[in-house]
Amino acid sequence: MEISNDIKYIGVTDKKIDLFEGQYRVPDGITYNSYVILDEKVAVMDTADKHFTEEWLGNLESALGGRKPDYLVVQHMEPDHSANIAVFAERYPEAKIVASAKAFVMMGQFFGDNFADRQVVATEGTKLSLGAHTLTFVTAPMVHWPEVIMTYDDKDKVLFSADGFGRFGAADSGDWADEARRYYIGIVGKYGAQVQAVLKKAAALDIAAICPLHGPVLKENLGYYIGLYDAWSSYRPEEDGVLIAYTSVYGNTASAAMLLKNKLEAKGVKVVSADLARDDMSAATADAFRYSRLVLATTTYNADIFPPMKEFINHLTERNLRARKVGFIENGSWAPMAAKVMKSMLEKSANLTFAEPVVSIKSALNAQSEAQLDALAEELSK
Ligand SMILES: Cc1cc2nc3c(=O)[nH]c(=O)nc-3n(C[C@H](O)[C@H](O)[C@H](O)COP(=O)(O)O)c2cc1C
Ligand SMILES: [Fe+2]
Ligand SMILES: [Fe+2]
Repeated sequence: MEISNDIKYIGVTDKKIDLFEGQYRVPDGITYNSYVILDEKVAVMDTADKHFTEEWLGNLESALGGRKPDYLVVQHMEPDHSANIAVFAERYPEAKIVASAKAFVMMGQFFGDNFADRQVVATEGTKLSLGAHTLTFVTAPMVHWPEVIMTYDDKDKVLFSADGFGRFGAADSGDWADEARRYYIGIVGKYGAQVQAVLKKAAALDIAAICPLHGPVLKENLGYYIGLYDAWSSYRPEEDGVLIAYTSVYGNTASAAMLLKNKLEAKGVKVVSADLARDDMSAATADAFRYSRLVLATTTYNADIFPPMKEFINHLTERNLRARKVGFIENGSWAPMAAKVMKSMLEKSANLTFAEPVVSIKSALNAQSEAQLDALAEELSK
């Protein structure tokens, strides 16, 4: 596949992976993207996962058409991209390796070799001329590891964006935003400030295409993708609406959650819901960042809260959820205290407002708790 006359795609698609990064379901697989820039000098952009050594080397070789690479640019040391650095270095002993100083330290850790006599150390603004193409490196710490660099090619106006603008799923699969949001919130969500810093640097560049390490190359409508990244990384809700995330043992909390959904929808509010024990946790987490309001509904469980809700709230606080209105539904048969536990878990999150009243159910909804549900629906539809 050609990105431009001089830039070829040499990545691979992983359809067999069970869980990406040990926790994310990827029903449509994931790609490990890699590119070659063919100029007077030849640069290879990143490698691929260890399960794809032969396929990646084969793609590289056919793109090279008999030439030899001069540089391997390592933008990110996470093994899904870096696993084949040592294999590459051995096969192409004349090629230099371009990476940040931190990446070279990690090469020492992963491979027992930091390629000391072949290093080109990239810092902010370092330039590398390939002939007609000049690459400029942009540091992008914590997007998604500390050693990350991005690369701008001024001839074809391409930004190689490392994990930024990456997406789960094969390159040609489905809508971009849902799987890109789940990827971003899941993997980079904690580091909004660092993503904002990179977006500011990117704003100064004239970009015609974005080449990420996962998912499709983005060539048109770049403002749409950059706008979503700006919303996600500044923790701004993407849409007005409510996520109701719930757990239930016997079904009564679930019924209350569904009744609240109906009441809100009757008021014209957009509502999505997630059963945290059954639905995809990372999709629910991404929805909490997508919508402006959130309702957490769970059962009291040994004077604490039901485990999947605990896990969910941990996912939210770990990723610095902020600036949302949050409502609570608790249930308990003898001493309901789930709302208190959930609120205390969210105490340190910036700029959350708690919607009143808390709906407190004793075993099953009654007139009193349903009145609370009505009041909460009213409060959340404002
Ligand atoms: C393992 C377990 C532990 C529980 N611990 C408590 C508790 O500490 N305090 C309480 O009031 N109810 C406790 N309950 C009861 C449930 O919170 C209560 O029955 C609730 O109404 C269940 O709602 P559901 O119909 O949505 O499952 C516990 C239930 C289970 C299964
Ligand atoms: Fe990564
Ligand atoms: Fe990655």
